[in-house]
Amino acid sequence: MTKGKSTQPAEKSRRIATSGDIEVSTYLEIAKEIAGEQPAAPKETIPPVQREAIVIIDFGSQYSLLIARRVREYQVYCELVSPDTLWEKIAPLNPRGFILSGGPASVYESGAPLAPAYIYESRLPILGICYGMQVLTHQLGGQVAPGAKREYGHAILHLSDVDSPIFVNLPPSTPVWMSHADRIEQLPPGFTTLAYTENSPFAAMGNDKKVFGLQFHPEVAHTPEGRTILRNFVYRICGCKGNWTTSNFISDSIAKIKQQVGKGKVISALSGGVDSAVAATLIHQAIGDQLTCIFVNHGLLRREEVERTFNTFRLNLGMNIIYVDASERFLNRLKGVTDPEAKRRVVGEEFIRVFEEEAKKIGKVDFLAQGTLYPDVIESASSGSTVAAKIKTHHNVGGLPAKMTLHLLEPLRYLFKDEVRQVGLELGLPEEMVWRQPFPGPGLAIRIIGEVTGEKLEILRAADWVVMNEIKKAKLYRQLWQSFAILTDVKSVGVMGDYRTYGYLVAVRAVTSEDAMTADWSRLPYDVLARISSRIVNEVPEVNRVVYDITSKPPSTIEWE
Ligand code: XMP
Repeated sequence: MTKGKSTQPAEKSRRIATSGDIEVSTYLEIAKEIAGEQPAAPKETIPPVQREAIVIIDFGSQYSLLIARRVREYQVYCELVSPDTLWEKIAPLNPRGFILSGGPASVYESGAPLAPAYIYESRLPILGICYGMQVLTHQLGGQVAPGAKREYGHAILHLSDVDSPIFVNLPPSTPVWMSHADRIEQLPPGFTTLAYTENSPFAAMGNDKKVFGLQFHPEVAHTPEGRTILRNFVYRICGCKGNWTTSNFISDSIAKIKQQVGKGKVISALSGGVDSAVAATLIHQAIGDQLTCIFVNHGLLRREEVERTFNTFRLNLGMNIIYVDASERFLNRLKGVTDPEAKRRVVGEEFIRVFEEEAKKIGKVDFLAQGTLYPDVIESASSGSTVAAKIKTHHNVGGLPAKMTLHLLEPLRYLFKDEVRQVGLELGLPEEMVWRQPFPGPGLAIRIIGEVTGEKLEILRAADWVVMNEIKKAKLYRQLWQSFAILTDVKSVGVMGDYRTYGYLVAVRAVTSEDAMTADWSRLPYDVLARISSRIVNEVPEVNRVVYDITSKPPSTIEWE
């Protein structure tokens, strides 16, 4: 997982978050901001104590979030904090150790971020990674200097101290991933070299106070033994027990939500996406009918999506749901709109209007629930803005009439996507919903090139159904980040029996991706592609030609609009 999404000029006006739910909730948050209300302070939803944590001092590396992700894989709670965070905020987390992340700065430059004094005073174990190791060296009396050349890429790490607890279960030599310019000239007093590479005589260091430094990146996949190293740090050196489990998270969250909401009323927008679904289910388990979900059907969803979502939440989970079929309204507003960004704006604005109208009917409401996840929180914190402000620039949604005065309830704000999926499964949500591929907030509107009409929506739904069906039958659905059909505005000549046809061209897109920032077109088996193509032209009479999109991102995007 990386930070700093969407910095490319060409992407500026595009939505880059990967969940349809965030889209929905972001519209709402934007509306609140316009009404002059700031999002609630994160501290309100900090998960309760009794658990242990590894605290990462984030010096701005693109890999910082990945370190957190790795630590959480060992069922140890982990948070990223900025170097100027006060101890008062750290103490309630019950830290068992600190990790100093990498970062772009040079420690000897004035104003370079350094570690807060309390990490040394606490006497807890510390692991400095890359820039973090240089920070340790600099602050503890060693010497860091500019390197003659940048060391970037693979290197072979040779252990000089095979007995060091940080290297338990490691072979004597192993590949590691380097990415640094500055180098350590002299270790701080009390430290010894634990490992070296051809270009780095001090590739790893440590002292007997459980302070370690690594010049390479253990968190990236290019360091195959990196997970073992981090595991050693978390369990052997910090003594963590690994009690950050899904069921502990659920019981803690339910208690927390009960306490936070009291007798208040909560509303939530349901989109059918994983994040809003899991958030709503968790809240529902905590406060039952004090939660009302508003499900706005904007008419841009896929076949059976409305029924399935509604049935899951209303019939299976017994939630209080207000269902609004606003398809006609959205379709009217989309008449004549062909520009992709204009489509997004229209859908966003109309969504807010419908949601507000329905929310007003409920009477007094105290909280707005959102499926915000940890990467969104980190991104907004590191950019110094709110999530809404950031996405607002992508969407340029303006002039919204909202006057809502609600507190935010964000029970997933400390979770990663795969943790959300685990929680969803444990809460009893159907697998189909938990493993749903991301679907954009504006829905099929941005998968129909040109004007959106009722007829085109039906054609696309039919074609998309075939794609989904064949992908699922081939058991490829979970491996793919997204797979779907696009209805282009190209028409071409074909032949059917004795007749000449003139029909639509449908494109099929299937991509693999880690985070939607980059994506590769999937090498789908030919027979799957053949079945998709032949079924579409047979089952959708308006379509007589199917093509497969074989471009990656960049230079293309995942969606066509
Ligand atoms: P692109 O097409 O930019 O998409 O490569 C990256 C990811 O974002 C999703 N996407 C959107 N999601 N509203 C959303 O909620 C949007 O306007 C939007 N546009 C793209 C896309 O499906 C992919 O997962």
